[in-house]
Amino acid sequence: PNIVVLISGNGSNLQALIDACANHTLPARITHVISNRKSAYGLVRASTASIPTTYHNLVPYKKSHPNSIPTAREQYDTDLASLILSLPAFQKPALIVCAGWMHILTPAFLTPIAEAGIKVINLHPALPGEFAGAEAIKRAWEAGRRGEIKRTGVMVHEVIAEVDAGECVVSREVELREGESLEGLEGRMHEVEHGLIVEGTRRVLEGLGK
Ligand code: GRF
Repeated sequence: PNIVVLISGNGSNLQALIDACANHTLPARITHVISNRKSAYGLVRASTASIPTTYHNLVPYKKSHPNSIPTAREQYDTDLASLILSLPAFQKPALIVCAGWMHILTPAFLTPIAEAGIKVINLHPALPGEFAGAEAIKRAWEAGRRGEIKRTGVMVHEVIAEVDAGECVVSREVELREGESLEGLEGRMHEVEHGLIVEGTRRVLEGLGK
């Protein structure tokens, strides 16, 4: 089955998906990669793997709705959905994977996508119900230093309108280590992410078949 991947940055999780498809540990094909940031290195990773890419730019929408960001974002999301729904049949996805995608998807996107029978999942570097939103790894690391938590983790969840709150597909705990640097924790978390993004995608695709 086809998947479309949404990215905003480095794309190390996209790379994990590209590699898993290439070595056939994931029975899927990435047919398109979309970024909301022009400078996202993940766009280079996609092109290197001969995957079509699109940069979906928020700026024109902010310019056309200077006094109303919510309207700009609504229009942006509507157009993002139609971009995906108008892909040629051989690129049309069964699943959309948000991998390092730093943009809150609104019902303007989620509703038409759901109506088309396409699932959306997101990788979030925290456990269900914890550290929703940005900089989750840093916030967990700081909570660890304050002795508030002993572990954090990573999850792949279904995307609904509420941020990082959809039904969990798969999650994995990551122990916090006394005195470890933030970079050290980030490195270990990204390792877990790269495995979980593939595992989460596999489970959802298997579920679609049934
Ligand atoms: C990862 O921690 C991801 O979960 C977060 O952004 C970081 C970078 O992801 N949303 P990637 O390297 O761009 O896939």
